[in-house]
Amino acid sequence: MTAPPVRSFRTLYVSLLVAVLLWSTASIAAEHETGAHVETQQLDFQTVVDLLASGSNHDLLEVRRIGMLLFAVPFNKFDGFGDGPFDPSEGPPTEFGHRPTLQNNGMFLRVNGLDAQACNECHTVVSNATRPPTLGLGGAGTVAQNAMPVGTVIDVADSADDRTQFASGHDPDLQLVEDGSADYNGRFINPPFLFGGGGVELLGKEMTSDLQKLLVMAEESPAGSKIELRTHGVDFGYIIAKGGGVVELHPDGIGPVDFETADPREVLVVRPFGRKGENFSMRDFDRGATQFHFGIQPVEVVGEDVDEDRDGVVNEITVAEMSALHVFDVTNPRPRRRSLDPKTRAGLAAFHRVGCASCHRPTLTTRSTHLTLAHPEVATEPHANIYAQIDLRKAGFGRSGSGLKVPLFADLKRHKMGDRLAESCEACTEIANDEFTTARLWGIADTAPYLHDGRATTLFEAIEFHGGEAQQVRDDFLALSELDRDQLLAFLRTLRTPRRPNRELLEP
Ligand code: HEC
Ligand code: HEC
Repeated sequence: MTAPPVRSFRTLYVSLLVAVLLWSTASIAAEHETGAHVETQQLDFQTVVDLLASGSNHDLLEVRRIGMLLFAVPFNKFDGFGDGPFDPSEGPPTEFGHRPTLQNNGMFLRVNGLDAQACNECHTVVSNATRPPTLGLGGAGTVAQNAMPVGTVIDVADSADDRTQFASGHDPDLQLVEDGSADYNGRFINPPFLFGGGGVELLGKEMTSDLQKLLVMAEESPAGSKIELRTHGVDFGYIIAKGGGVVELHPDGIGPVDFETADPREVLVVRPFGRKGENFSMRDFDRGATQFHFGIQPVEVVGEDVDEDRDGVVNEITVAEMSALHVFDVTNPRPRRRSLDPKTRAGLAAFHRVGCASCHRPTLTTRSTHLTLAHPEVATEPHANIYAQIDLRKAGFGRSGSGLKVPLFADLKRHKMGDRLAESCEACTEIANDEFTTARLWGIADTAPYLHDGRATTLFEAIEFHGGEAQQVRDDFLALSELDRDQLLAFLRTLRTPRRPNRELLEP
């Protein structure tokens, strides 16, 4: 009754919108064919802002529902699916908006994207440990759902046929020899789940804020001072002050390979998302995901009323829609942990003893309970352009002091994992082929297969594949007694995905 009439009108409008959408997804045939998300395209950004500002659970649920619908909607031609007619003069054929299609089918490519119609086609598996697997919203993917970014050539037959010749200047390791390796110059990546993502994003943003402050401190420090890049108990290297605002960075597990030529502000951004740690927020990830998978171009990337891919459709996904999608992402419930018994407690002790916890940090703690959302987002300034904040206790996170416990089993850093895990990606120049961000082990009991491409079908194999910086710890694990190893694996199996995640979004 006390709510301003504008808001109650908007809430009513949004409720109707959601009801109509849920109803229309239930009824299969539309009268005439249209875009699959025409209704959510009507939503305006201010409505999302107002709904989130009200602080009510009901309004948050409305925004999450709209986000969920965008996550589940199969984008079609009328929505602007695809990259438009192919024209080689438009730019590199590997770039978003300019890709060819497989056998000239006009829509799909599969390698290097244009590989699905809906987010939920790949983020599907809530548990692969149940029979049959438990499916749901926001889950992980099996190998059939892997994405294959940036590749241009796969020698599927391991042939010496010269039609598979790579472009000149290609990686000499990708040779035309019959060695059992189907050489491929791109990436093969297994979809992780989105559960608990809000807590991860909050940690990343708080860490980035701290690192940016430490950089300013270094710039103002006398020459020769050493400033440790330590935040939330994680060590990201150090800075040496050179005086006069000049600094020398020594980053660890963060920033691009050529950090020396990059802007130090850009280097000191924690990027927890993507298996190689490339994205600072889930929205940042989504801006690439809609373009890569669907050829759906966000307004916040190409601009309003701009048909960048020349497919005849503009405003393919609006700022309001991307905001709702982001809200859905960050409110996915966090994974849970079964209570420990003497066996699994001994397993946790072994996990610490052999050194797994040096990278897989069991719990990191935030300073705040609220995740701020911004538009437009600025990677180096998590506090710029904030339009809303979300209390992550609503996503199941528990309090610790002024903030939250994020029981993620990771350090949000990248590590060199050695040759056994290295990719052979030619176009990946920013991050070395053997570097990956520490996989978060929460939920691991339910998410086989493992590692960045799903090559490990069991937990034991996943550990065996560790090399590089983890070589010693992996060897120590293999040297444990069989009992200790079993206990450690039993401990990992207590780390479960959420029960019935996002069920409340399906009940109108
Ligand atoms: C073809 C399968 C596929 C589709 C479709 C897909 N994803 Fe993903 N998703 C992946 C893969 C693979 C990764 C890991 C990418 C990487 O490591 O860079 C991923 C990662 C993510 C992440 C980062 C998670 C993390 O913890 O690092 C987010 C967020 C995400 N996807 C959201 C989406 C959204 C939103 C959509 C729809 C617009 C979508 N995905 C569609 C396969 C898919
Ligand atoms: C030097 C850091 C480091 C150490 C030490 C380490 N890991 Fe990892 N771990 C990683 C990284 C990085 C990945 C991701 C590799 C990839 O994506 O291919 C990973 C992946 C995993 C995975 C697969 C997760 C998934 O979802 O696919 C498991 C399981 C795992 N580690 C368990 C362990 C255990 C158990 C130990 C101790 C014996 C350990 N790790 C030690 C860095 C480390």
